[in-house]
Amino acid sequence: MSKQISVIALTFGFIFLIIIFGCDNKASETTQNSKSNFNNNIERKVDSVLGLMHLNEKIGQLVQYSGKWNATGPSSSKNDQHKLNKLKKGEVGSMLNVVSVASVRETQRIVMEHSRLKIPLIFGYDVIHGYKTMFPIPLGETASWDLDIIKASAAIAAKESAASGVNWTFAPMIDVSRDARWGRVMEGAGEDPYLNTVVGVARIKGFQGDDLSQTNTIAACAKHFAGYGFAEAGRDYNTVNIGEYELHNTILPPFKAAAKAGVATFMNAFNDIDGIPATGHKVLQRDILKREWDWNGFVVSDWGSIGEMIAHGYAEDKRHATEIAMNAGSDMDMESYAYEAHLESLLKENKVTIHQIDDAVKRVLRLKFQLGLFDDPFKYCNEQREMDHVYTEEHLAISREVAKKSIVLLKNENKLLPISKDVKSIAVIGSLAHDKDSPLGNWRAKATYNSAVSLLEGVKNAIGENTKIHYAKGVDLTIPTLEAGANQFLYPLKFNTTDDSGIAEAVEVAKKSEVVLLAIGENAYQTGEGRSQTNIGFLGLQNDLLEAIYKVNKNIVVVLMNGRPMALSRVSEITPAILECWHLGSESGNAIADVLFGDYNPSGKLPVSFPHHVGQEPLYYNQKNTGRPYSNKHVTFSSYRDAPKSALYPFGFGLSYTVFKYDNLNFDKTEIDRNGRIKVSVEVSNKGDRDGEEVVQLYIRDLVGSLVRPIKELKGFEKIMLKSGETKTVSFTIDAKILQFYTASKKWEVEPGDFEIFVGGNSKTTLKSRITVIE
Ligand code: NOJ
Repeated sequence: MSKQISVIALTFGFIFLIIIFGCDNKASETTQNSKSNFNNNIERKVDSVLGLMHLNEKIGQLVQYSGKWNATGPSSSKNDQHKLNKLKKGEVGSMLNVVSVASVRETQRIVMEHSRLKIPLIFGYDVIHGYKTMFPIPLGETASWDLDIIKASAAIAAKESAASGVNWTFAPMIDVSRDARWGRVMEGAGEDPYLNTVVGVARIKGFQGDDLSQTNTIAACAKHFAGYGFAEAGRDYNTVNIGEYELHNTILPPFKAAAKAGVATFMNAFNDIDGIPATGHKVLQRDILKREWDWNGFVVSDWGSIGEMIAHGYAEDKRHATEIAMNAGSDMDMESYAYEAHLESLLKENKVTIHQIDDAVKRVLRLKFQLGLFDDPFKYCNEQREMDHVYTEEHLAISREVAKKSIVLLKNENKLLPISKDVKSIAVIGSLAHDKDSPLGNWRAKATYNSAVSLLEGVKNAIGENTKIHYAKGVDLTIPTLEAGANQFLYPLKFNTTDDSGIAEAVEVAKKSEVVLLAIGENAYQTGEGRSQTNIGFLGLQNDLLEAIYKVNKNIVVVLMNGRPMALSRVSEITPAILECWHLGSESGNAIADVLFGDYNPSGKLPVSFPHHVGQEPLYYNQKNTGRPYSNKHVTFSSYRDAPKSALYPFGFGLSYTVFKYDNLNFDKTEIDRNGRIKVSVEVSNKGDRDGEEVVQLYIRDLVGSLVRPIKELKGFEKIMLKSGETKTVSFTIDAKILQFYTASKKWEVEPGDFEIFVGGNSKTTLKSRITVIE
């Protein structure tokens, strides 16, 4: 770097940067052509800034610290003074968990006033399903199969975050996850690669909009790259044993789509894959993501995951871990304090290269330019916006829309639902029914403690004074409940297994009511990071409560609140109606009431299989056949002796208050070559007496392949509205994109042969026909 330039930069600091780099961050106003000029401009600016930087400043851009306000990992080993000194020297690139305009402004000010080059910080935060207005947990929201509302909810989360100083979210999580024991199943889009792909892209588009420099959009982060959702035995952070083909066919597709959709950042993962920690995985990060997919964002490590390669037994010490991570393409160090300590000496010893460091720094600077932070480091710090744009009536109304569309009707015998608003008496039972906190779910960002509309409140809001509502808690699920402001990572969940003193009252209440709404399931903190469980049933004394009520009133509607698939065998055996309500966010109770009383006809479909028993896990519809798949009648076929083999409620399943019928599956041809297309159409009719929405799903099966192929794979869906009595024709196009997979030749290609094409309302559909792909 020329000494002259650095002296000028030192003298004029940030003003100098603005003068030479300009303030023209107006991508949205440009045409496609000038957009590429804009990108070229950014590249020039990035190079110019890089040219001004000293090595310590470059390394600093690759360092991310957590603010003390809201740690989301094991507490950091460095004290605030250390962080402050580093900020002043311009040796920090990003902060996480620093939120609110006041805190962000103050932290950015330190860098702007003290550092030599005044390179602004990016502020990251886990905005997973809303910032202050809470939306359903991501798994629940996925059950809507409605990409527009998923995008809209992410856009609102972005708007609220951006108004509060945050310009980067660590979302979406697009880990395909197939084990209900894994607590983080709540944070993604479930067990299917295609659904994770389209939902992930919708979320990215919602967060990032068309233009990152706007003050209502934020950078997104595709995580956790890769394989984190395949933790052995569903135990969080556990090892992942998958082969190369599973990696390519199941785990990578959502990430590839995210990269293509322009996601600003990736986060790597805590787990190892086949012996190589994801954080130190060169093939994943350098070869596939950056080279093959040609993606130019940056990869942030997960919290402390560089340092954790020591515990894995993959690195001798932090220095070695730094060498591995940088060589593997992990660009930013979140809370390992490894890069800041060791990159410089590793460079001197040629263990890492200046090219690697420069490339990583350029990736970070690029995003800072895209966000417009060089134009105005305080652009996300506007108190007025923070007051006006966060937790508004409009956002809450949209949250209610999203929530009601996320509810899945699992069972409805004798049309117990919807309940007439003229009903004389309703029992509302369960501690979850009166819980204003659990519906906010885990990863709730800045949600206010106890701010959700509870089920009881929702019911009261929905029905008139002529109906008697009898509430009884029955049993407490946990002891004690989480205190306001407590750090959930330190909160020990203790289940109530002894105090059944409230059951008698609940029974009395059930006796005197026409219908019982029984809210059971999981507390918000039973799922999320580090929240794996071996028991996916009803903890505490909830089973006792259910059995006691069943004895006195059979008209039970189970209102499930949970963050993972649960084992519902007994519930499903004895109760006539089950409504899967996840953790639905701020408007939970109102949205559930919309469905209970028929103001909204439920349209959600499961994004995960619900087993009969935890022993079936991992359970997913898109499994492969064994060599002995066909019969349950003989013991030497692949099945269980004490439980069914398949799901109790399968992937894609969900009922409506009306009935849909599928007829006339038609193909415009049945034979194509590898580049051909087939148009499939099906007639869907609403045979009931209510209008309703149906998710029409398309599955394929590749009958013989160079690798064993799944027995069904989702390849498309469309959510349609049908009036009572109406019939619509829904069409899908089948082309190479749909039929190809990562074959034994290690290429994405279509293999000639026969395919079955299925269409229907869930993954168990048998409506199918065969097509052939010829050479
Ligand atoms: C660890 C989690 O795995 C990751 O998803 C999250 O973004 C970081 N902590 C930061 O909170």
